[in-house]
Amino acid sequence: MSGVSADHAAPEVEGDDSVRQGVLVVDDQINNLKVLGTILRGESYEIYAARNGAEALQTARLALPDLILLDIMMPDMDGYEVCRQLKADPLTAEIPVIFLTARVESEDLVEGFEAGAVDYIRKPFQQPELLARVRLHLELKHSRDHIRRIGNERKELIHILCHDLRAPFSSMDSILNIMQSDAEYFEERRDFFTRAAVTTVENGLKVIDLVRKMHDLEERLSVHSLDLEATPLRSTCETALIVIRDRLLKKKIEVELDLDENLQVRVEPVSFTNSVLVNLLGNAVKFSPPNSKVLVSATRSASANADHEHKHEAEKLIVLSIVDQGIGMPPEILEHLFEPGKNTTRPGTDEEAGTGFGMPLVRRFVQAYGGSIEVSSRDQELHPKDSGTEVRLRLQAD
Ligand SMILES: Nc1ncnc2c1ncn2[C@@H]1O[C@H](COP(=O)(O)OP(=O)(O)OP(=O)(O)O)[C@@H](O)[C@H]1O
Ligand SMILES: [Mg+2]
Repeated sequence: MSGVSADHAAPEVEGDDSVRQGVLVVDDQINNLKVLGTILRGESYEIYAARNGAEALQTARLALPDLILLDIMMPDMDGYEVCRQLKADPLTAEIPVIFLTARVESEDLVEGFEAGAVDYIRKPFQQPELLARVRLHLELKHSRDHIRRIGNERKELIHILCHDLRAPFSSMDSILNIMQSDAEYFEERRDFFTRAAVTTVENGLKVIDLVRKMHDLEERLSVHSLDLEATPLRSTCETALIVIRDRLLKKKIEVELDLDENLQVRVEPVSFTNSVLVNLLGNAVKFSPPNSKVLVSATRSASANADHEHKHEAEKLIVLSIVDQGIGMPPEILEHLFEPGKNTTRPGTDEEAGTGFGMPLVRRFVQAYGGSIEVSSRDQELHPKDSGTEVRLRLQAD
């Protein structure tokens, strides 16, 4: 089986204000580096230095500074060329570059701006001018990063809304269809359908409330501020199955829940039900042939590297496993499964459509609970007789 995993690494916090801003100074004259260092040292910047173009490119990629002060006249690779290469690399393209120049001929400046610089500073350096320009461009960079972060968070909230409201709406749609087209059957099972409709609608409303709450939290990256609480595993899986009931019935897929009643995990329950479980169980059903089985089981983790002393700690983890007998995934899908914007989506075995936003959202939430996700899969091309997928979630026990 080939596999991919995303571990508990603390979720990245973008644009953390407590981190010092970094300035890379590039000059082949050691004296100039010294002067720049002395002027900037009074400010609380993290200073990096490079003495030629190659060093500058390497340091910029490794340190990802917030601003680069770049000498134009250098042997081997001049400042214009360094700047062009920085702008051509997506990793460094957004870092503002200020040229350091002894010449202020208009054509030199034009070439600098064309190479991608945002400003220039004249040599010999005048401390107040240099500091003013550095501060201005760092502030501008900070504002741009902030706006980009807010834009990304908004996009994520819209994805959650669109993605996680689909299942309850389509489940309600199927209940209403049965009510209209087969009134007798509906009446016979009226209680069951009523309960299913209530659960489904309640879940849809909870998704809306969650997104609203995440939107109110605004300033900090939303998923990191979720309220985690003890959540019973078995009944939560049952709720998720009600939300995707119509799809299970259509394909006659049997889902076996081998879950102890007492198991509880520490998660945010609305997203765990509607983003994580509905998507993982929904995928298992979507990519399985009719009449197949899906097995959901959970164990307290006996971590391989837990020694006697730490055994107790290891048992605070629960591993939830969802195994299907579906078509599996080829390596090119498995590899990019958690990357938003990568085209991993395929129609299901009954031509069900999707967006490809499910798994990236699942991972974001699982990481926000302090857990991790691992997927292994046997693709039907290579394993026609025993293809299938297993998703394992490691979650904190409660
Ligand atoms: N259990 C699975 N079996 C086989 N392929 C899977 C499975 N789960 C995910 N995939 C593959 O990964 C892709 C991405 O899954 P993801 O949940 O992110 O999006 P989607 O299911 O296509 O769309 P949506 O979640 O919006 O319905 C799927 O389209 C499919 O190609
Ligand atoms: Mg999906």
